[in-house]
Formats: sequence, C-alpha cells, structure tokens
Amino acid sequence: MTTEPATQVTSRGEPITEASALDGSKGESALVVEHLTKHFGERVAFDDVSFEVGYGEVFGFLGPNGAGKTTTVRTLGTLLAPTSGSATVAGIELRPENGSAIRSRISIMPESPGLYLRLTVRENLECFAGLYELDDVRARIERALRAINLEDRAGDQCGSLSKGLRQRVALARALLNDPAVLFLDEPTSGLDPVASREVHGLIASLRERGVTIFLTTHRLEEAERLCHRVAILNTTLRLIGRPDELRDQLFSRSLDVRVRSPLEDPTAVLGGLPGVKGWAHAPSGYTLAVSDPEIAAPQVARALVGAGVDILSIAESRHSLEDVYLELIDEDVEARRR
Ligand SMILES: Nc1ncnc2c1ncn2[C@@H]1O[C@H](COP(=O)(O)OP(=O)(O)OP(=O)(O)O)[C@@H](O)[C@H]1O
Ligand SMILES: [Mg+2]
Repeated sequence: MTTEPATQVTSRGEPITEASALDGSKGESALVVEHLTKHFGERVAFDDVSFEVGYGEVFGFLGPNGAGKTTTVRTLGTLLAPTSGSATVAGIELRPENGSAIRSRISIMPESPGLYLRLTVRENLECFAGLYELDDVRARIERALRAINLEDRAGDQCGSLSKGLRQRVALARALLNDPAVLFLDEPTSGLDPVASREVHGLIASLRERGVTIFLTTHRLEEAERLCHRVAILNTTLRLIGRPDELRDQLFSRSLDVRVRSPLEDPTAVLGGLPGVKGWAHAPSGYTLAVSDPEIAAPQVARALVGAGVDILSIAESRHSLEDVYLELIDEDVEARRR
C-alpha cells in the first residue's frame, strides 16, 4: 500500500489519495469471492455467493432487510469467519491468520457511525488513527478532514453534530488508512435528502479518483447513480451486472410514441415494421415492443409520417433499477417471509 498520497485533496472534498486506485497489480481484482457461505447455527445469512470486484470499481450490493448484506461485509472485513467458500480481499486470501493484514488494507464504514460523542471530530480521528496504529497521523487527519469538507468543524464535539455530519466524520475515519477497498454499509441510511446528496457527492468524488468501493444500500437510485455494477442479494446472489444490463435482462425493450391524433388503423401502420414486435395503446399514443430501439425508432417515425400523423415524441421507455429490483424481489417468496 502506498503510504505517501499520490494526490492532494482539494477544498471541495475530493478524496485523499489515489493510493486505492494504484493499489493492487494490473488485472488483479480487489475482491474475489467464491462460493462464500455464512450460517449462524440453523440460519443461513448468505449462501454460495460468488463475484469479483475490480480495482477502481464502485460495486453496489442491494437486497431487502435480512438479505445478508451486512454479514457479507463483516465476513469480507474479517470480523466474522465464513462457514465455507473462499475469498481474496485486496489481494490477500481471507484466512484467520491474514486478518490483521487484510484489516490494514481495507476500511468499513458501518451502518451506525460509532463515534465518541464527547470527543471532538479531530479527537475522534486521532483516537481511531491510534487504534489503527497509523503513521503520520496529523497529515492523515488533515487530508481526511479536507476530503469530507469538515475542516471548520474539526473542533466541534461529535455529539453536537447532525446525523449527516456524523456520517461524514465516519467517512473521514474510514479514509484514514487510505483503504484499498472501502466498504460502506448503507452510508445514507437515516439521512435527509440534502445530507444524502452530500454523501453521494463525496462517494462520487471518491469514485472519480478510482477508489474501490463496496456499497450496500436500499436506495436504488443511489446505486444507479453511483455504482458501475450492482449485485442483488437475497441470501443467494440473484443478479449481477451494470444497471442498464440488468434492465435489459429483465425487461423487453419498448418505445413510447406520442402522437397528436390516433391512427385509424394502427396495425396497418405499425404491425408490419421489421423492428417492431408488437404494439399496445398508451395515453396519447402507443407502446411498441421492439428488439432494438435505435433501429426501430427511425422506422416508426417514417411510417407515422407516411401515414400523415403528427409525432409529438418517440422515446425509449426506461425501467429504473427499482423496477428491476421489485420485479426480482417480488418473485422471491423468501423475501416476503422476512
Ligand atoms: N450475529 C448474528 N447472529 C445470528 N444471526 C445473525 C447475526 N447477524 C445477522 N444474522 C442474521 O443473518 C441474516 C442476514 O442479516 P444481515 O444483517 O446480514 O442482513 P442485511 O442484508 O444487512 O439486512 P438490513 O438491510 O436489514 O441491514 C438475518 O437473518 C439476520 O437475522
Ligand atoms: Mg445491514
């Protein structure tokens, strides 16, 4: 791990260093998880989970309550031993004897910030830097404070900070050791939209600098905005991919066509087009099932103009990650039992 930061922060809260991006050799994955399983007695927290996360990737880990997200983070973070399976974390094999080596290369920001409320922001960071046995503590703390835009609150007691600010202090704490992999467990849980947006901004700036982030969240728009890829977990891994890939995988693609006045014979105009698989009435127009919207849209436009119809708009209908998630979880009987 690089101890000297490759990049200084700016006052806009950009990340501390590019160490995380540089950490790990080319082609190596930040996380390799193979058939990992964790049981608590009879209860299965997660089962046979396999995935890889590349360096510099922001990887979203979604799932309903009790899906096993936190337990996965705690297992990869060496706080719990897996029941079976294997993993490599920041290039190190997940084994009991490697626990401290792994912990020195990662950071976990847990669901609750866990700060000492009677201590100031700076004292909290000093305390944790001491616990982590970090060198160069003063400079690290200054960089962390700058990275999360909290320099002016460094002398405030954590107990006097709002929930959102405490969350930012927790993020600063997680950055102290320049982690090769940063685990964020629901970083915006309980935050209002303004505070959430601030945390999103910080995560986005970390992403820009190539920090590897494993982000668990219930907030689908958060995952869609911040993550390169997402996995949907519900004890077992249900889907993994880029948000747009997941949409394409689960939903047929369609075009929404709005016209000024309805067609007299829609089947005659739309039915025979090679890129159109079917059509249905929709408010102010039609919804067309298509194989490829980019091929179908010009054909549809030409056909409608040829039929003398005024086109108001033709647009691909977009399914959100939320649609994907609900579609998947809805099918899932286990999810409803939790
Ligand atoms: N220490 C523990 N002992 C026993 N069971 C546990 C323990 N920790 C978690 N579990 C169980 O493991 C399952 C997964 O829990 P986990 O906290 O990982 O879910 P999660 O996806 O993080 O949920 P949430 O969205 O509510 O945070 C649950 O059934 C939970 O009750
Ligand atoms: Mg959890």
